[in-house]
Amino acid sequence: MTSPAYLTDFLPRRGTLPPRAWARSDAPELSLNGEWAFRLAERADGADDFALPEFDDAGWSRIPVPAHWQLEGHGAPAYTNRRYPFPVDPPRVPHENPTGDYRRNFEVPPEWDVERVLLRFDGIDSVGRVWLNGAELGITSGSRLASEFDVTTHIRRDGPNVLAVRVHQWSSATYLEDQDMWWLSGIFRDVTLLGRPADSIGDHWVHADFDAATGEGVLRVDADVPAHVTLPALGVHVAAGEEIRLANVRPWSAEDPWLYDGELRSAGETVHLRVGFRTVEIVGDEFRVNGRRTLMRGVNRHDIDADTGRVVSEERMRYDIELMKQHNINAVRTSHYPPQARFLELCDELGLWVIDECDLETHGFFPVDWFHELAGNPAEDLRWRDALVDRMQRLVERDKNRPSVIMWSLGNECGAGPNLGAMAEWARHRDPSRPLHYERDWSTEYVDVYSRMYTSQADLELIGRGEEEPFADAELDRQRRGKPFILCEYAHSMGNGPGGLGEYQEIFEKYPRLAGGFVWELYDHGLRSHTADGVEYFAYGGDFGEELHDSNFIADGLAFSDGTPGPGLRELKAVYAPVQIAVSADCVTVTSRYDHGDTGRLGFTMRVERDGAETAVHTLPIPPVRPRQRAEFPLPALDLRPGDIVTVSARLGEGELWAPADHEVAWGQFVVPRAVPAQASGARVTRRETELRVGPARLDRESGVLIGLGDVPVSGFAPDVWRAVIDNDRPFSWFPKEARWRQIGLHLARFRTDDVATTETDVVVTGYLGFPGSDLGYRLTQRWTAAGDAATLRISADPVGAWDIELPRFGLRLALPADFQRVEWDGLGPGEAYADARAAARQGHWRATVDELQTPHAFPQENGNRMDVSRLRLSSSGGTIEVNGHPTLQFTARPWTTEALDEAKHPYELRPDGHTWVNLDFGQNGLGSASCGPQATPSSRLLATRFDYSMTFRAISG
Ligand code: GAL
Repeated sequence: MTSPAYLTDFLPRRGTLPPRAWARSDAPELSLNGEWAFRLAERADGADDFALPEFDDAGWSRIPVPAHWQLEGHGAPAYTNRRYPFPVDPPRVPHENPTGDYRRNFEVPPEWDVERVLLRFDGIDSVGRVWLNGAELGITSGSRLASEFDVTTHIRRDGPNVLAVRVHQWSSATYLEDQDMWWLSGIFRDVTLLGRPADSIGDHWVHADFDAATGEGVLRVDADVPAHVTLPALGVHVAAGEEIRLANVRPWSAEDPWLYDGELRSAGETVHLRVGFRTVEIVGDEFRVNGRRTLMRGVNRHDIDADTGRVVSEERMRYDIELMKQHNINAVRTSHYPPQARFLELCDELGLWVIDECDLETHGFFPVDWFHELAGNPAEDLRWRDALVDRMQRLVERDKNRPSVIMWSLGNECGAGPNLGAMAEWARHRDPSRPLHYERDWSTEYVDVYSRMYTSQADLELIGRGEEEPFADAELDRQRRGKPFILCEYAHSMGNGPGGLGEYQEIFEKYPRLAGGFVWELYDHGLRSHTADGVEYFAYGGDFGEELHDSNFIADGLAFSDGTPGPGLRELKAVYAPVQIAVSADCVTVTSRYDHGDTGRLGFTMRVERDGAETAVHTLPIPPVRPRQRAEFPLPALDLRPGDIVTVSARLGEGELWAPADHEVAWGQFVVPRAVPAQASGARVTRRETELRVGPARLDRESGVLIGLGDVPVSGFAPDVWRAVIDNDRPFSWFPKEARWRQIGLHLARFRTDDVATTETDVVVTGYLGFPGSDLGYRLTQRWTAAGDAATLRISADPVGAWDIELPRFGLRLALPADFQRVEWDGLGPGEAYADARAAARQGHWRATVDELQTPHAFPQENGNRMDVSRLRLSSSGGTIEVNGHPTLQFTARPWTTEALDEAKHPYELRPDGHTWVNLDFGQNGLGSASCGPQATPSSRLLATRFDYSMTFRAISG
């Protein structure tokens, strides 16, 4: 039993050509994507006679290329976050090593007039051994890095060619590719045959700087053969290698991604150029582009598609970028490997600042404590150095012509060590124009920016001020304090959340040292699956029967697995808005957070609503506000009444590549204060045999429990402190609350009625809310009063015992019959809101069905809370229950209980139970992002203090 020797080489790559720039040219190309013959073996050491042209593969399966075999019916995906899914014994991997053999035939188009022919693989996970017509070409390694072979001497120009590739799931390189994602293998990016004419351009490099002082562009295009550069719009006709200065150049920025089309022409080939002039600098501790401090409002993005894994179509890449741009994201970190080259071209075109990251992560060494403790971590062990430097070279060489790439990142979570230093040294020497990033170099010895992940708001503030904890080495500490700071991951968006984004953003805005942050992460990585009875769901770790897995830690995106935005993305859009709009009764203040251009591309409108109806719309003649400036403008005179809502929106005047005209970028509101509705009181309480009636409220005489509102039966009425725990509450969290909550027994709360006292006009129910086995509790008073068709309930609650933790929620729940399906409310909407995640919700009059109020997290948990609700109406075909807050309350409504939601592991396990369950709450604990990071900010924590709040019910028939 053996594995082929190359699987344990520290750098298994062999036979490939030196890396070079991605290019589009008129040289002929032939895509070898499409259907290939395929077979999968369990081991790596099978006979390799399949590479012979005469081998008969008729009995094999067929597979599309590009694809992962696990998603094409061969084997199964597996998910681990950090752990290597096999014994850690580098560079060795198990003999049980799923191995896919691929074959296809092709012919070289007869019209190709070329001197050489290359074969390019844009991505094979993890290594691919390649043969053409039976001759071995070599081995690819570096799953997300391109590999090219010169096949000139092996290719047949006048007949069929047989290409054979053997792909192993595991190789020594797997130790370098331990990113937090599905283990998915195969030829998963394009395969292309490249015809290379005589005198074609091997490599080229566009150096296009922008001199902010003079407004000039500085251009030099290097090529490895004699060539000529033209840029018609700038009148450029110059030899390759010659530097020229160009007056009045329009610079490239993520805000205004201006590209000049041009050509680089040699005797044999014309490469199409898209040139963006921009200069990246670090000046003192400021990160600047084109001479201006530039703040990145970023996200981390993996290549992921719920159906195809890391095979991402051009259409999907475009969708991803449009989604980011439409949500006010201006920067992306390509965690944790370079995306397809096309993705970066699209970033150039649509405008995103990119931190392009190397395909490198050795996180699995952390759990086994090899980080700085034992030799072996590839960042430290010199035997890995060439492999690491090779990866960096292939990153930089491929992507060097992309103006959107403003920083290189050495990789992610590899600890620290000299091999990273070697990568940095090579990159700095090769490309001095871009700063270097790597998070785990906390000394910043090798890199140009200080970077951390999941830092709390309080610590970010310290870093902003330059007051962070000192680094052990005084000289390194001094250097680090002088460098810009990047929060390369923050606001872990697992499940319901993240909370606290607004606080982060205010800090980023405040301190020039802070160059911005990248939320973790854009998408959930669930894989589309179906239950036996055909219900669709998004599978996470364990759903494929993996023996080792990290469950739903793979579902930590701002948007869902199918690409649809989640509440987190909507919240981020509001927080990342490039203009802040503050509205008062007579004026609007616009604060620009653009760094490079004015607000000229935005049009401002004002809309007034009264009781859900629009009463006025005005276009506001707001002149452009310059970058980082604030200006105040008067509003037209308005006849405003209490409760009126004035919304000022900033929308795109004209369509952009990433959104149509009229797309809303930002908004601000002013609500004319209105009087809090009076509590209902004074009506007489009536006593029936088993009931007390207080206006429309019918209470059980014994227990004081609400059993009906008018004719509508109410069940399950009880004080409530529990919520279906969110990922941020769970045991793996940095601030796990769930265990303590369950230990107290908050999920098993029992209300004991001690007394039901009636006066002529009041029913006062006193009692104790307690938890089995615990001495903690709440003494509660529910006072019912009524007037006409309205009944007011006032709840006062005093904590008992030494509470040492916040409450998940405090409120009331009840169940209405299931046909109460239509919901209307005045308050924040249309989406959900929590104490620390409410920026996306605006005041208005909203309607939804109960189903529409549910947010389908891959792992079910609390969701869908609506805040600041002054009036709620729940309607069936026969009637409406109206609830008014004094002044407001929060609500959730669902077709199942909190307990069922808490129990479920997948959305398909949730079944309507014949009721509409409604929570009418004082509040909930904030969300935070503690599944990997800080807990809810202090101001959003629901401390176990006294609560006192009221609501008024009406039952309206018809
Ligand atoms: C970080 C890591 C990411 C991801 C995240 C948790 O430590 O860099 O790749 O694993 O934690 O979701």
